[in-house]
Amino acid sequence: METNKRKILVVDDNSDFVDFIRKILEDKDYKVSVAMDGKTAIEKASSDLPELVMLDLKLPDIPGEEVLKRVKEINKDIAVVVITGFGGEQIAVDLMRKGAIDFLSKPIEHEVLLASVKNALDIREAQIEDRQFDRYPSLESFFPFLAHEIRNPLHAISGALAIIQRRSDVKDELLGQSIKIINEEVQHLNEFVQECLNFVRPPNIVRFIEVEINEVISVVMNIISNMLEVESKKIKVVTEMDPHLPKIYANYEEIKQAFLNIVKNTFEAMPQGGVFTIKTSRKSSSPTHIEVAFIDNGMGIKKENMGRLFNPFFTTKLRGTGLGLAICRRIIVDRHSGKIYIHSEENKGTTVTVELPIGRRLGDTSGAR
Ligand SMILES: Nc1ncnc2c1ncn2[C@@H]1O[C@H](COP(=O)(O)OP(=O)(O)OP(=O)(O)O)[C@@H](O)[C@H]1O
Ligand SMILES: [Mg+2]
Repeated sequence: METNKRKILVVDDNSDFVDFIRKILEDKDYKVSVAMDGKTAIEKASSDLPELVMLDLKLPDIPGEEVLKRVKEINKDIAVVVITGFGGEQIAVDLMRKGAIDFLSKPIEHEVLLASVKNALDIREAQIEDRQFDRYPSLESFFPFLAHEIRNPLHAISGALAIIQRRSDVKDELLGQSIKIINEEVQHLNEFVQECLNFVRPPNIVRFIEVEINEVISVVMNIISNMLEVESKKIKVVTEMDPHLPKIYANYEEIKQAFLNIVKNTFEAMPQGGVFTIKTSRKSSSPTHIEVAFIDNGMGIKKENMGRLFNPFFTTKLRGTGLGLAICRRIIVDRHSGKIYIHSEENKGTTVTVELPIGRRLGDTSGAR
């Protein structure tokens, strides 16, 4: 499986150091090539196309900064981690602004090296993924653009924070707490960006299979009780499942996602606790469809907001992205030819009703397996 190994080019003129790094990386199944000077590094970056270059800044022939620039010109998807000797941090930080993902100072510990390599490869993948969305024209091209512009500085922040964490005094509680807060906020933003990207992702029609809706609901309830543990304890869940509910042709993952978004909203609408009822049934008025009702007796929805619930980014929550229902509509209506309605009365509660066709959608050629 040689070809599947991830390729790393180590650039350093110190053969002991190169051997040290090579051993650690090869033990973890990376494919390592070596360049002892800048010229060879540039040649190998071009011929081997490594995913990652570990670049020592002090090379006998060409300055590290120039090598970084040339490597990025060869292929901007090559991730670069800069290695410095004692006192080289300032230059390294400067190079991070010019495209390096991280920097490591010698001597490098085994674990720190591996963590940095993994992190750099993950960031590279995320950056490539972001760019793939550039192909989609129209309104939706705004999201990938936004994602790209937010993710890049976020990666830089994460990288710089990891360095601060490594260097900082572990006993300093306030510092530790501050780092934790930054980490959490960065993660929150990353998740938000990911949700935006999921929103514009093209439909996955290949995944249409026979789906047991009652089963999807139990899975969703399981996930939600772990996700919203505190709220769960205060909410009584009543299920009224039709035991003869027919299976439907659907994209399991997408339906699960849609139901999760709906149930999450109901739980968030009952912060003081309440009763949540889920009913499944075959629609009597339209036997080709099944119906799922999600009923809560939570805070309800203000009349003036009813028309905006499905708009992307409409939220009344401090931490909401406002994409939950927009994604539901896309999955249920656009991708499954179903329907979704919301009835609500302020301070009384909300009922979300989803209708889904049982049979295969017209135009769906993926077949059921
Ligand atoms: N069951 C419900 N009870 C009360 N309000 C609801 C309910 N479901 C949705 N809403 C209202 O609809 C708005 C939009 O919901 P949506 O799921 O799209 O976004 P969100 O929940 O605010 O954020 P996100 O789902 O991205 O975390 C919510 O902010 C809330 O005001
Ligand atoms: Mg929501």
